[in-house]
Order: sequence, then structure tokens, then C-alpha cells
Amino acid sequence: MTEETYTFHYHRCTLNRLTDPVLASLVRAAREATYTAYAPYSHFYVGAAVLLSDGSIVTGNNQENAAFGAGTCAERTALFYAHASKPTAKVEALAVTARGEDDRFSARPVSPCGICRQVLIETQQRAGHPIKVLLCGSEEILIVDDAKQLLPFAFETF
Ligand code: THU
Repeated sequence: MTEETYTFHYHRCTLNRLTDPVLASLVRAAREATYTAYAPYSHFYVGAAVLLSDGSIVTGNNQENAAFGAGTCAERTALFYAHASKPTAKVEALAVTARGEDDRFSARPVSPCGICRQVLIETQQRAGHPIKVLLCGSEEILIVDDAKQLLPFAFETF
């Protein structure tokens, strides 16, 4: 038996130090998307924005349902919408953020749930290159350069 170590790389920066204009607009789009989330049960309004290879940005947000399990996360709404509307465009990056009932953005960077990570992995396989993931808090952002890093030992059939 051998002991193995998994190393996780990410960058930490403040929102006002995010100098890349494309990534800055991706974060703005994710913030904007929180305003059309449908979250009457959790009152946690999540927004996600996806940057595509044609330079466009598509957004999504959490859509809840009285049958709780039927609701879906912002990240999946955005990723599935990207694939549904532009199936040949490749996903380059995804930003996610959230607002609470008090209208304030979460101080803690918002991190995708396990199911969304699994969807990100397959999206990355479709893209054929690493997808950047921006976990956004109100002032602090964590940036993971390769979505695969977010889910070690992900389920894969191909
Ligand atoms: N949610 C997301 O949209 N994305 C995440 O990464 C985690 C959780 C949603 C699901 C639910 O509508 C609400 O946040 C509270 O869990």
C-alpha cells in the first residue's frame, strides 16, 4: 500500500484586484444574475456566469421548487443553458456568487455543490481544455484554474 497526496492549487484575490477585464465582467454578470434567481424557500440567491469561446457570457441562477429536490443550482442552470443555446461553443470559465435575504453578497466565496462539480467535469471534457472557476465572495475571490481540481476521483465513464 502507498500513501498518495492530492494537491489543490488556487489563487486568492480581492475583487478590486481582479484586473482581467473579461473576468471582471464575468463576476459582474454572476452578481447581476442573482437578481432573477427564484429562491423563495432558501432566500439564498445564487448567480452564475459562463464565459464561452465566442466571447459571449451566459448566465443562470438557482431555481427552487416546493418539491425541494426538483430545484436546481445556479451553476447547472448556466452550464446547461450554455450547452442548450450554443452547443458548439466551448466553456472557458464560470463565476458563481450569492446574495442573502438582507440583499448583501455573501462574504464567503460561494463554492459549487458536488453535483455541479460533476457537471463541470463533463463540461470540461466537452471543452477539451481546463475551465477556470471563480468562487466569489463580496470582496474576496478564489480562482481555480482547472475545474477538475474541484472533484478528485470524479465519476467518469469515458
Ligand atoms: N445553490 C446554488 O445555486 N449553487 C450552489 O453552489 C450551492 C447551492 C442553491 C440551491 C438552493 O436553491 C440554495 O442555493 C440553497 O441551498
